[in-house]
Amino acid sequence: MSELRGATDIGDFLVSARSFDEYRAMFALTDADLRGRALDCPGGGASFTAAARVRGADAFAVDPVYASPPRELVARLDAELARGSAWATANAERYVWGFHGDPAAHARLRAESAAAFARHLAEHPGHHVAAALPDLPFGDGAFDLVLSSHLLFTYADRLDARFHAAALREMARVGAEVRVYPLVDQAGRALPDLLASVVAELGDAGVRAEVEDVPYEFQRGARSMLRLGPVPPRTGVRGAGAPAAGGRMPA
Ligand SMILES: C[S@@+](CC[C@H](N)C(=O)[O-])C[C@H]1O[C@@H](n2cnc3c(N)ncnc32)[C@H](O)[C@@H]1O
Repeated sequence: MSELRGATDIGDFLVSARSFDEYRAMFALTDADLRGRALDCPGGGASFTAAARVRGADAFAVDPVYASPPRELVARLDAELARGSAWATANAERYVWGFHGDPAAHARLRAESAAAFARHLAEHPGHHVAAALPDLPFGDGAFDLVLSSHLLFTYADRLDARFHAAALREMARVGAEVRVYPLVDQAGRALPDLLASVVAELGDAGVRAEVEDVPYEFQRGARSMLRLGPVPPRTGVRGAGAPAAGGRMPA
C-alpha cells in the first residue's frame, strides 16, 4: 500500500462501485430526476441502476467491462474494491471523510454497492450495455438524464481534451440532460484549462454547459459537477460554462 501514498496515478481504470446515496449527493439528484429514463455512463460496479429502478426510473448502465461474462466481472470487482480501498486509505488526507466516516466504512459501503450491482446484473443483464465512449449505441434523446461519474476529468492523464469533448457531445446526443462529476483528476487536481476548452467546444456544438455546486465532497475540493442541457434558474449555479449560441440541445 505504501507505494500508493502520494501517488498521482491509480493505474488502470478502476472499476469502482459507488452507492446510490453517493450518486444522489454527487449529482444533486431529486426524486423528480428519477422519474424518467436514466443512463449511468460509465456504470462500472455501481448500484445506481438497480436502486434507481426500485425508485421508479427506467435506468440503464453502460460500460466496456459489461462485455465480460458476469461471473468474471463480479470476481474482478472484488479485486477492484480492494484496489480502490487501498488507494483511498493510503491517500486518506486527500479525502473529506464526513460522508463515509472512515476508510473502513467507505470500503463496506462500496462492497454493499458491488453486491447490489452483482444481484441486479444476474437478474437483469439487459440493463447493462457493453459499449465505450465516445460511441454509445443509443438513439438521439433516448434518455432524460445521463450521469457520468469518475471517468471524464478523473482520468485526464490519459484521456485528452478531444476525447472529453467527443464523449460529452455523445452523452448530450443521447440525453436531454447530462451531469458529470467530479471535475478534478484522480489525484484531486483542478483542471481549469481542460474544463474551459471542453465547455467552449460544447458551446460551439450548440450544447449549453454550466458548472454547479453539489452537496458532496469526497476528494478534497471536488464540490461541483458539470451540467449539460437545460439549466433551471436556482442558487448555487456558478455559470462558469460558456452558454451556447442559442443554447439548444441536439435532438
Ligand atoms: C472509476 S469507474 C466509475 C464507475 C462508476 N461510475 C462509479 O462511480 O462507481 C470508471 C469506469 O470507466 C469505465 N471506462 C473506461 N473507459 C471507458 C470508456 N471509453 N467509455 C465508458 N466507460 C469507460 C471503466 O470500465 C470503469 O468501470
